[in-house]
Amino acid sequence: MKKRVGIEALAVAVPSRYVDIEDLARARGVDPAKFTSGLGAREMAVTDPGEDTVALAATAAARLIQQQGVDPSRIGMLVVGTETGIDHSKPVASHVQGLLKLPRTMRTFDTQHACYGGTAGLMAATEWIASGAGAGKVAIVICADIARYGLNTAGEPTQGGGAVALLVSEQPDLLALDVGLNGTCTMDVYDFWRPVGRREALVDGHYSINCYLEALSGAYRGWREKALEHGLVRWSGTMPGEQLARIAYHVPFCKMARKAHTQLRLCDLEDAVGPGPGTPEAREEVAKSSASYDAQVATSLGLNSRIGNVYTASLYLALAGLLQREGAQLASQRIGLLSYGSGCMAEFYSGVVGEKAAERMARADLEGVLARRERVSIEEYERLMKLPSDAPEAKAPAPGTFRLSEIRDHKRIYVEGG
Ligand code: CAA
Repeated sequence: MKKRVGIEALAVAVPSRYVDIEDLARARGVDPAKFTSGLGAREMAVTDPGEDTVALAATAAARLIQQQGVDPSRIGMLVVGTETGIDHSKPVASHVQGLLKLPRTMRTFDTQHACYGGTAGLMAATEWIASGAGAGKVAIVICADIARYGLNTAGEPTQGGGAVALLVSEQPDLLALDVGLNGTCTMDVYDFWRPVGRREALVDGHYSINCYLEALSGAYRGWREKALEHGLVRWSGTMPGEQLARIAYHVPFCKMARKAHTQLRLCDLEDAVGPGPGTPEAREEVAKSSASYDAQVATSLGLNSRIGNVYTASLYLALAGLLQREGAQLASQRIGLLSYGSGCMAEFYSGVVGEKAAERMARADLEGVLARRERVSIEEYERLMKLPSDAPEAKAPAPGTFRLSEIRDHKRIYVEGG
């Protein structure tokens, strides 16, 4: 497995509407500072039943192919990571294949493990290419979800929706992955789940944060052991985690990235040999360093703070936000990524940012994607949330986007905006 493999390009699709998070706080009688500085949110994407997971996934994939000039005949695999699919049997990937008229020779499937499903797909595609089985073909991995907890719940300000499509190939212009160095950690827990038939997720909010942090520790230590063996990081001068130029985390809400980074630093501080802060309290103080958070994490959160949680896509929105802001400065530098899915599973991996990252990100036009959204009132958001999921309102999709138009004989019918 000596090939250079990784993410060549990406595209983002977001719902057409959003609410301002301070409007939501005021409507709920909550101090807006709880949602802005307590959770780190600014805006939250709002979907209607016509903008389902298939519509968002197909829009992101079509955009990727169009913006980056992908030759469809080169696509050998299409994977959709989602935990908000639309059928127990028929995968979202098959809809995307049909809507985009992609080759019938492709392998298509969906991957599910809560918010980790997209990373599972990315690793399947990466290892398929790295092994040589892909025989020169590329893969598209789409992370698409709608995060929904319901009106007046503690999770309400951490909802959102959207999709990120990743082009995976032997030309990793965005990020060449350190294949095989991943660290993984899985535990059987009920922190966040959605029983079959339920539209809203159930969550044990504070427990879910603890599960995320515990799984992160296992995954990061697993990666660090291999990275030390391969000489990617070392125990000298700075801590191993500090030797990564940036770290992108799974972002269910932006403040979680700060908690995650503190935990990662605690792992290094607890395991370090030689002099260092001696007591747990002193280690906690050093781990919380705002300077480290500002330097290694903060710049990745621009998109997440304006879209909200997108489950499988949240980590990849953080990657997109980071490369949009700093693609040029980070060229040739190694970054770390932490994926977390409830239930639970965490994976820490790393990669080197490509020389063409800034050019590739410019083509993704992320500012334009966000600018085309409409801000709606809380009354309109509540009306949209109450619409039945199987009766989409008649609305013409914007050019280049897809929309569920109706469900006939239990079959979903989509239209494309021309
Ligand atoms: N001004 C500033 N800050 C304030 C404030 C104010 N007036 N009032 C409260 N805060 C702060 C609190 O101190 C707290 O900060 P810290 O965590 O740093 O202490 C923060 O705002 C949130 O306050 P609470 O903990 O009291 O908030 P809550 O109990 O109402 O709910 C939540 C928070 C548990 C995250 C909830 O939104 C939730 O359940 N969200 C969904 C679950 C989730 O996202 N879990 C994350 C891990 S699981 C995962 O990652 C998978 C996934 O995608 C779901």
